[in-house]
Amino acid sequence: MFVERDGRWTRTPSEHFKDCGYCTKTTIADVRGAIEGRTHRLAVTSKDLNPEDADEGSAVDATEVDPYFFDDGYTLAAATGFARVWEGAETLSRFLQTEKGRLDPGVRVVELGAGVGACGLIAACGGAHVALTDVAPVVEDVVRRNIAQNALGEATERAAWPNAFRVGCGSATRATLDWTSPIPDRPFGALDASSLYDADVLIAAECVWLRDLVAPFVDTASTLLKGGVGKLILCVRDRSTSDDPASGKAFAHTSEVIRAFTTAGCVVEELHREDSREDFGKEIFIFSVRAAARRERDEAS
Ligand SMILES: C[S@@+](CC[C@H](N)C(=O)[O-])C[C@H]1O[C@@H](n2cnc3c(N)ncnc32)[C@H](O)[C@@H]1O
Repeated sequence: MFVERDGRWTRTPSEHFKDCGYCTKTTIADVRGAIEGRTHRLAVTSKDLNPEDADEGSAVDATEVDPYFFDDGYTLAAATGFARVWEGAETLSRFLQTEKGRLDPGVRVVELGAGVGACGLIAACGGAHVALTDVAPVVEDVVRRNIAQNALGEATERAAWPNAFRVGCGSATRATLDWTSPIPDRPFGALDASSLYDADVLIAAECVWLRDLVAPFVDTASTLLKGGVGKLILCVRDRSTSDDPASGKAFAHTSEVIRAFTTAGCVVEELHREDSREDFGKEIFIFSVRAAARRERDEAS
């Protein structure tokens, strides 16, 4: 998590989040845009789920009980979407700004499990047209708010997704995509024929940390990949509790994620690996995942 202090970029101690659980925070990132020499300032705010920690002037009412608790799509796993920029999202956000990870300007991106939306908004700053997706309560709260907070007006480019706003050199919009439900035919409303299969790239961070999420996530992502989306850039922050994947409890081991994608007919390649700063001994991986048939086609051409 990066914040700006005294005009400098500072890494906030992640212990802060361990201490207070959840608190309203704004993360600020300076992102170099697709047009040389232009830097975009991005602000991503997470939601206060612990009223006692509400900052003064917070947009969230300190006495508010979580209003989405009984909504469709609200689960404990979904509640993590409101909370913060997770460590894997920091890693993916940084990767997307490197030579190796930078997306081509103008590409159409779908972010899965966007949470507060840091990765998708950073990709948008760099020139991508991004649809940030998550379960409905997250999309209609933090995703909507963080797009609005960074919006520079309506996006008019042909490649922009429906209802998108200009963000940095690209654009961002939102859509509901719950991995436990079929991929919606009309994610942007009944009157719009755009499909999530129109994406060039999927991105996702910290979406498969729970074992129960691996199957629905892999099913959704691999269906999109086999349906024509070029690749998934996936950041996995391993939270498993044992080196033996079979003996860990709720948390998935990274090898389980790779195996699930391979079984689903995808090819997984490691692009980047680094140590977790929050959890000694744990690693963070960035993978490229493609449908096996697509990869063969790409390599033949
Ligand atoms: C740990 S958070 C990561 C959020 C963000 N990508 C980040 O790294 O900061 C996991 C995200 O997965 C989303 N999620 C959980 N279950 C989901 C489901 N069934 N369908 C879609 N998204 C889901 C949550 O709402 C949450 O935003």
